[in-house]
Amino acid sequence: MPKMNEPAAFKQFLKENLSKKRYVHSLNVADMSRELAELYGADADKAYFAGLVHDIAKELPRGQQSSLAARCRINVSQIELNSPPLLHAIAGAQLLIERFGIDDGEILAAVRYHTVGAAGMSKLSQIVYLADLTSADREYKDVKKMRKYAHTSLEKGMFEALKFALADNAAKGSTIPVCTVEAYNEFAMKMKAAQ
Ligand SMILES: [Fe+2]
Ligand SMILES: [Fe+2]
Repeated sequence: MPKMNEPAAFKQFLKENLSKKRYVHSLNVADMSRELAELYGADADKAYFAGLVHDIAKELPRGQQSSLAARCRINVSQIELNSPPLLHAIAGAQLLIERFGIDDGEILAAVRYHTVGAAGMSKLSQIVYLADLTSADREYKDVKKMRKYAHTSLEKGMFEALKFALADNAAKGSTIPVCTVEAYNEFAMKMKAAQ
């Protein structure tokens, strides 16, 4: 069974299970995760690995994502299980457990929370969350600003990212998992305290 320190084995799995575009995205998120880990004093190899595998379940058939997510015991809410775009993060963590025997809770949490965030995220989880939004392949309107925030501090990066995510979800009329609101509140309080 391949382990975290053998990213080549995972790259092979990703190549076989993701489109070219998403495979390149995964490599870019891994690179950005390493960059941010070096900037903020986190474990760079762990960050690279978590970034690499964060979307590992993204292109699995919907049914497979649902059944993996239903077995996941990492604080999963019904709102998330009912939201197809959110399933892949939960399913990804469960796939890493079931298929690859990954048992590093920090890596599993970073994958599981990369779409929604949560209160009390570890440095590694924050890094992967921000790397996913700021990787080299990202092209949305404010990506340069977001890269700047992510390189200013983890708190500033997370605050701006969550602020955007909440506003965007609400504008679209989407449901918002409670853990996202809790994450937002935590970073909003941090930003206030720092003023
Ligand atoms: Fe994702
Ligand atoms: Fe991603």
